[in-house]
Amino acid sequence: MNPPKNELRKQAVTPSAPPAASTGLSYLASTLAQPVTAVEAALRPLSFSDFTGQPKTVERLQVMVGAAKRRGEALNHILLSGPPGLGKTTLAFILGHEMGRNVRVTSGPVVEKAGDLAGLLTSLEEGDLLFIDEIHRIPKTVEEYLYSAMEDFRLDIMIDQGPNARSVRLSIPRFTLIGATTRAGLLTAPLRSRFTLQTRLDYYNVPTLMGIVQRSCALLKVDIADEGAREIAQRSRGTPRIANNLINFCRDYAQERAQGRITQPVAAAALELLEIDARGLDEMDKRMLRVIAENYRGGPVGLGTIAVAVGEETETLEEVHEPFLIQEGYLQRTPQGRVITDRGYQAIGLKAGGGDSQATLL
Ligand SMILES: Nc1ncnc2c1ncn2[C@@H]1O[C@H](COP(=O)(O)OP(=O)(O)O)[C@@H](O)[C@H]1O
Ligand SMILES: [Mg+2]
Repeated sequence: MNPPKNELRKQAVTPSAPPAASTGLSYLASTLAQPVTAVEAALRPLSFSDFTGQPKTVERLQVMVGAAKRRGEALNHILLSGPPGLGKTTLAFILGHEMGRNVRVTSGPVVEKAGDLAGLLTSLEEGDLLFIDEIHRIPKTVEEYLYSAMEDFRLDIMIDQGPNARSVRLSIPRFTLIGATTRAGLLTAPLRSRFTLQTRLDYYNVPTLMGIVQRSCALLKVDIADEGAREIAQRSRGTPRIANNLINFCRDYAQERAQGRITQPVAAAALELLEIDARGLDEMDKRMLRVIAENYRGGPVGLGTIAVAVGEETETLEEVHEPFLIQEGYLQRTPQGRVITDRGYQAIGLKAGGGDSQATLL
């Protein structure tokens, strides 16, 4: 019997897991949803000098770290946003390392009550960092307590109920909140405005990703040719976590089907086997594009409708698949719904019919 999809998504996926075709969950979605594995932890850059790419974000963070250290103060609150696997958690730990402070880690849905937040905040030491992942999922009732904690470093907690109800003021150490979110748009304005810096991570370009692939291979002692690294970089949809994961599968493939070295043809064949095409699109991306092209004459069509048709959750399509498809120009988001582009038609081997959106086979 298959476990429910949500269960699957939370399960650890071993780095070289085969494509999860039989479960209906794409390799991509399971890769991006995986909790930190030992391999991933080993590959995580620990300082700014190890971290390549995201030049604007890195410079903004370096300025803030430098200034805070020079003044001997806690770092100001920072919100990191962007698609999964681009380095938000990594940067939170780098900030702790660079500041020489501890990082406490939690996530939005885990902080259920004001009491949970109080417990976390009162356990911090002066200058520590509190990393709240998926901060857009923090309950509204808890969020309000966060405001005074961030601004005035105090918490007014209500204890008891009815006639005995009273408010107790807790003062908390000056801490730094690092929030991470894949959905910055879902944050309320009052919460967002309390972050001194809001910075968005972008997909990595191929040369930068290639460097990341080479660094990871060196750390893992994987033998890889430059062109093999480029092939993996090109198919990693701008995402280091995907690149690291593909390295592991390519390494297994090179060992079982070739002479152990990841050359360009070996990488290409391994990634074909995972149904990741030369553009980095996986089966689910293509299924989305096909549904729009074939069932809805190119769109516009609502994301919810697409989700039902492809058998995936709307949230996964919106967070994992769609941002890359839009950024690379395969898909457009309009007020009426999603529309496939000419490039999108090409990616699935169709071409847009002249003038109207009727697809014809190439
Ligand atoms: N700039 C980078 N350079 C090298 N490796 C990176 C970089 N950004 C991310 N990674 C790798 O990708 C993995 C996923 O990054 P992570 O910080 O967990 O992403 P996010 O929190 O945004 O989902 C990390 O384990 C790390 O090894
Ligand atoms: Mg993360």
